[in-house]
Amino acid sequence: MPEQTFLMIKPDGVKRRLVGDILIKLEKKGLKIVAMKMLQITRELAEIHYQEHRGKGFYEELIKFITSGPVVAMVLEGEGIVEIIRNFAGKTNPKEAGCGTIRGDYAYDLTQNVVHTSDSIVSAKREIINFFEKAEILGK
Ligand code: TYD
Ligand code: MG
Repeated sequence: MPEQTFLMIKPDGVKRRLVGDILIKLEKKGLKIVAMKMLQITRELAEIHYQEHRGKGFYEELIKFITSGPVVAMVLEGEGIVEIIRNFAGKTNPKEAGCGTIRGDYAYDLTQNVVHTSDSIVSAKREIINFFEKAEILGK
């Protein structure tokens, strides 16, 4: 199966009308989106998605933020796509994220940092299953 990753435009990105800009960047780079939808994340889904961060100091703020409004979730596919999309998002802390990256260009706050991206092939598989039914992903 081709490599896939999970990318999500967080509630701040949707509220700030950044969805179009982000899609343009993905399309201009020639990347392939194989699934996409808008949804409101429930507390239950948020806890599953961010299970690795449970108990950390920023956890409650993160859960509150990610459930605060609609998000746009997508699956991208291609060779090396996990790393490509991770680099596309930029470093977790927007103050350290490079120019040209989504967080570097559009974010200033550590929690409200516009996008989520899978950090490995293993995480990507888990995250895609959490958000998408098999039938929602094209070409399968
Ligand atoms: P993490 O998985 O470490 O970052 P990334 O999104 O780059 O994979 O953390 C998940 C999210 O939690 C991160 O995007 C922003 C938020 N966060 C904080 O609010 N405070 C923090 O100190 C950290 C490390 C993350
Ligand atoms: Mg992460």
